[in-house]
Parts: sequence; structure tokens; C-alpha cells
Amino acid sequence: MIDFARTLEDSRQQVDAALEHYLHTLTRQQAPLVQAMRHGALLGGKRLRPFLVYQTGRLFGLTPASLDAPASAIECIHAYSLIHDDLPAMDNDAQRRGLPTCHVKFGETTAILAGDALQTLAFSILADAEIPEVSAQDRLQMISTLAAASGADGMCLGQALDLAAEGQQVSAARLETIHRHKTGALIRAAVRMGALAAGERGGPALGYLDRFAAAIGLAFQVQDDILDVVGDSQTTGKRQGADQELGKSTYPALLGLDMARAKAQDLYHESLASLECVAALGYDTATLVALARYIIERDK
Ligand code: IPE
Ligand code: IPE
Ligand code: MG
Ligand code: MG
Ligand code: MG
Repeated sequence: MIDFARTLEDSRQQVDAALEHYLHTLTRQQAPLVQAMRHGALLGGKRLRPFLVYQTGRLFGLTPASLDAPASAIECIHAYSLIHDDLPAMDNDAQRRGLPTCHVKFGETTAILAGDALQTLAFSILADAEIPEVSAQDRLQMISTLAAASGADGMCLGQALDLAAEGQQVSAARLETIHRHKTGALIRAAVRMGALAAGERGGPALGYLDRFAAAIGLAFQVQDDILDVVGDSQTTGKRQGADQELGKSTYPALLGLDMARAKAQDLYHESLASLECVAALGYDTATLVALARYIIERDK
């Protein structure tokens, strides 16, 4: 029996130490810009994407030390996406992870730049960090994967589509496209980077792992939408009801709560089916199975 909470907490500590190390290499530690980056990257948060990097890499026998760089890099991109997502021009949120959002604490200009600098830090880490056990070619593949998932074919596209859909009634297909990009793309990239770190060994399982990641990536945002309706702000650390106020296109808004929950369940089962194919190749998927369940049952 896996202690999932314990495993998640272990990988949070692992990636936080790595992030602390990389952030520490910046020269102006006292500058508001760096303080704002630390605020966005280190305070609170589940570290789900790093967890996926570590756990996928572990399937192939990689040690956490070989995965610190991709795990930190993807969390930097995620942190940047949240800082910008909260800006007045986007979702205009004042609270994140139970704390004031970056622009509320540091001002809008510093928050924008902190997001920008976290994005470039992600790629500095992947390009420059020591990554034991990983070839230069696989490192390049990781850079390519993270760049593609973050930009105009990935997260940024999803964010643009999300904002364009505010106040509109969108089709189920369009909503799925939004969610698969704004949130799904980085979750898929996390799993892919964990497999890429293993080089050729990761190859046979890659397609199944990608299907798994696509399913949990969408389920993750469906649950995020559900928590915006039924969650408790104390627990989520975010203001409840914000989506409805902004007229956001969400699964509960489109389908109602019960059908949104059913959608999350379907995706959960889809993710398990993909993991069974991974297990059939001889890999121990128990932690990823537990993670899939956590994604649709989480309350924060
Ligand atoms: C929130 O992501 C934004 C979405 C993509 C839904 P998380 O729920 O992973 O946020 P933290 O990092 O745990 O705060
Ligand atoms: C955010 O989606 C997705 C990204 C940051 C890329 P949301 O806008 O729903 O995330 P929260 O609810 O503010 O965390
Ligand atoms: Mg948003
Ligand atoms: Mg938001
Ligand atoms: Mg949300």
C-alpha cells in the first residue's frame, strides 16, 4: 500500500531544494524581481508536475538527482503561468495558495517580469544544470518538449483561448481544446520529460504514458473547475466562485456539476487503461495509479 501523501510530500521537498539551489544562483538575491520569483515559485503549491517527472523517471530506474533539473524547470514554467494568470489583465485574482498574488504583493510590473524571468530560468536550468545519467541529446529533447508545451501551441495558446471564451457559450469540443492546452500541455510535458530522461529505455512505454498524461491533464482542469464551485477557499487558497464571476468557460458551467464529475471519472478510467498497458511492459505503476485517483478526488 502506497502512502501517497507521503510520496507527494517527499517529491515536494526534493524539488523545493533543487529550486532553491537554482534560484540561489541569481546574482541579485535582494532585488524585488528575485523576491517575486521566489514568492511565485516556492510558497505553497502541490508540485504536481515535478511529482510526475520524478515518478515517470523512477519507472525506468532513474534517481531523483537525475530528474531535479526537468522537475524544477517545469515548476518554473508553471509558477510563471500562475503569476501571469492572476494578473488584472487575465483572471485578476488577489489570492493564490492562501497568500496575496504576486502582483498584489510586488506590483504589476515586477510580477510580469518575475513571470518572464521564471520562464527563462526554466530553460537555463535545462540547458546548464548538471544532469547525471542523461545524454546531451535527451537533454535537448527535454528543452524542445518544454518549449513546445509552454508556448503558442501549448499553455499560452490555451490561456489565449480561455480569455477569448470569457462570457461566451462554447461547445464541449472547444472547451476541451482550451483545457487540453492551458493545463493539459504542461502535464503531458512533465510525463514526457520523465520518460525522455531515461533515453531509449523510455521509448516503448512513451505512447501509453502520453495517453495517461493527456487523460489526467484534462481531468486535472475539470477538477480545478469543480473546486472553483464547491471548494473551500481556506483549503484551495484561491477565491471560490471566481470563474462564474468572470463568465469563464468551465465544465460545471457547460455540463452542470454532476456531469462534470462524471467527465472526471471517465478520464480517470481512461488514464488507468493506459497505465495497464504500461504495467504490461513490466513497470510498477502503483504510484501513478494513486496519483490518477488523487487528481479527481483532491480538495485543493
Ligand atoms: C493551478 O494549478 C492552475 C491549473 C493549471 C489548474 P495547481 O492546482 O497545480 O496549482 P498549485 O501549484 O498546486 O498551486
Ligand atoms: C490556469 O487555469 C491555467 C494556467 C495557469 C495555465 P485557471 O485560471 O483555472 O487556474 P486557477 O484556478 O487560477 O489556479
Ligand atoms: Mg485562468
Ligand atoms: Mg486563474
Ligand atoms: Mg481555475
